[in-house]
Amino acid sequence: MRSILFVCLGNICRSPAAEGLFRRMVIDRGLEDQVRVDSAGTSGFHAGEAPDTRMRGAAAARGIRLVGHARQVRPQDFGDYDLIVAMDRINHQDLLRIAGEYGRSVRLLSEFLPEGWPADVPDPYYGGEEGFERVLEMIEAACEPMLDHLLGSAGGSRPTGHGAS
Ligand code: 4NP
Repeated sequence: MRSILFVCLGNICRSPAAEGLFRRMVIDRGLEDQVRVDSAGTSGFHAGEAPDTRMRGAAAARGIRLVGHARQVRPQDFGDYDLIVAMDRINHQDLLRIAGEYGRSVRLLSEFLPEGWPADVPDPYYGGEEGFERVLEMIEAACEPMLDHLLGSAGGSRPTGHGAS
């Protein structure tokens, strides 16, 4: 069993969307017995809440149902997950700080995208509807490279280092 944890700030917009999109791909490929998918927030501000209704709506328009309730990242996550993917550089730095010497599995989502994409999945919380679409587009583009990396397959899907500064 391989495992992946998506992390944003609140765990109500970006990381639940990543969890939903990635899980859909895993199910479509018949890998649900081999890959565990979860999400969390660096903050506990929204702990216990369902995903944001705007994010749920944007995902539903693509046939993806977002489930689960927000939780904060815990120290044991760094040992429990093979790959931990931060949505933006602030999340990434916060995770590395929490992880201490256990930060080897922590990556930034944009490391899995080719040149030309922004370094951060932009926080859509205070913006308009297009921000939620952008979140989905960016995550969708990274899903296959992230799966390849998680499953350890060769073939050019390793993190490029793009945006990892
Ligand atoms: P997320 O979005 O990190 O993608 O879940 C946010 C949710 C809540 C807040 C900020 C970002 N907030 O400030 O409450």
